[in-house]
Amino acid sequence: MSDFLKELDETIDERSMLSHPFFALLRSGKLSKQSLRAFTLEYNVQVHMFPTFVSATHANCTDLEVRRMLVENLAEEEMGPDNHPELWKRFGDSLGIGREEYAAYKPLRHTHASVHILGDLARRKEPQEGLASLYAYESQIPAFSRVFLDSLDAHYGLSQEGAGTEFYRVHELADIEHSEEVRNALAIMCPTARTQEDALFAAKEACDAFNLLFDGVYETYC
Ligand SMILES: [Fe+2]
Repeated sequence: MSDFLKELDETIDERSMLSHPFFALLRSGKLSKQSLRAFTLEYNVQVHMFPTFVSATHANCTDLEVRRMLVENLAEEEMGPDNHPELWKRFGDSLGIGREEYAAYKPLRHTHASVHILGDLARRKEPQEGLASLYAYESQIPAFSRVFLDSLDAHYGLSQEGAGTEFYRVHELADIEHSEEVRNALAIMCPTARTQEDALFAAKEACDAFNLLFDGVYETYC
């Protein structure tokens, strides 16, 4: 089992979002404010759809403990005034993106394809595929959030304590816990070589889908 989880982590590391050239621009402050706005509008699609990936995986899952964990994760995403789609829009507010812009915005085909692949993984009959996709995402988000917090503060005038960066503050901490829980769930749901292979392949597909969204932003707006 530990070999499987190690291979899973290596699979995700090899395809890390943070290795995408988009992040080199962000870290150096060479990403224009206009490109950052475009990224925010594109990535809003991922943030908006992410809770549906959690609920679809929950719907496919037979293990009661794993289902409870997913429901808690989903409630954090969707419920209350500080739900995560709202926190993302507060980030957009700090960049001057009007709330009405989201509905009018036409995302890139890369972004559509990315969320379609992630939705497909979440809806597959075997829950280990949706769980592996969730793990591939949530295990990357603490480091992703730290890079944003540091870069936004250093180059884009957004303090690490302000309302505009709350999305990243929340996810830097919450997704350490979430990814650990999903990792434990994968250990439960992947007892055989076949289920482990399913999960490893799904993690690859998910990582490629995350990078596809960044490819679109980078090629079109950077
Ligand atoms: Fe979230």
